[in-house]
Amino acid sequence: MSTERIRIALQKSGRMADDSLNLLKNCGLHVTRSRDQLFCRIKELPIDVLLVRDDDIPNFVSSGICDLGIVGDNVYSEMKCGAENFSATVLERLGFSQCRLSIAVPENGAINSVADLANTTIATSYPNLLQQFLKANNIQAKTLVMTGSVEVAPRLKIADAICDIVASGATLTANNLTELQIVLQSEALLIRPQQKFSPEKEAIINRLRARMQGALRAEDSKYVMMNAPRVAVDQITKLLPGCDSPTIMDLNKEGMVAIHAVCRESVFWETMERLQAAGASAILVLPIEKMMA
Ligand code: PRP
Ligand code: ZN
Repeated sequence: MSTERIRIALQKSGRMADDSLNLLKNCGLHVTRSRDQLFCRIKELPIDVLLVRDDDIPNFVSSGICDLGIVGDNVYSEMKCGAENFSATVLERLGFSQCRLSIAVPENGAINSVADLANTTIATSYPNLLQQFLKANNIQAKTLVMTGSVEVAPRLKIADAICDIVASGATLTANNLTELQIVLQSEALLIRPQQKFSPEKEAIINRLRARMQGALRAEDSKYVMMNAPRVAVDQITKLLPGCDSPTIMDLNKEGMVAIHAVCRESVFWETMERLQAAGASAILVLPIEKMMA
């Protein structure tokens, strides 16, 4: 029996930390840890978890300290953009922890377009991505590198604009800043080193990846059931989001059928209203816990 284990790096605190642990949980993997424990073993699969600062994850994976990592595209791309001999690659885009790296400026100020950024000073924790963006747009501007509280720089008059992460936009609003330009759309990524591992390790990684894909697919998917007149089946099928072949069963009532379908996209109230208008009744939308193709 093989004794090889893989090591995955996760963010130890912050927004992505909860989402990452939640994904592992939905994969049937339980990480139990005390507050200051940075290394945990998972019982269910030969996987160890290293809880670290997000900024360390790309390099830990690139250098082979960890075999996998879950990290925001913002952190990954910034490292990749700046480092030489960087070997971490994206295995899977995970869809959660969405945010964007944006340039923002004071409301009602002198900067109203990307061109207006010429000869300004822009505060950021993402100097590589910012420089790449400015270069692509042929703009000369000064970068002021800050590791946090970037949003206060314009108020302190140490910068004219900022380039920082925006999620809900609340931080910008609270600081009288307005979004001028998106530099990068970000979400959580599963990353790995470029080089191949042993067949045993590759097998563990494939197993974990398949579980992640299944867990993420199940999250968006719903099992939908309803009754409808048989003549309405075609129209109703077209209304079901992300489903092309529902199961149709005769009901003990002339001309009526039950329709069961797995919808692979979100089912909104609007969808249900349209189904009802098309003749469906007793519409039920049920969560799907697990899914395997
Ligand atoms: C980011 C960013 C902003 C905030 C934006 O910080 O630096 O402060 O989130 O989010 P909002 O649009 O929802 O207000 P984060 O919490 O990631 O911490 P960090 O900058 O210390 O990494
Ligand atoms: Zn950070």
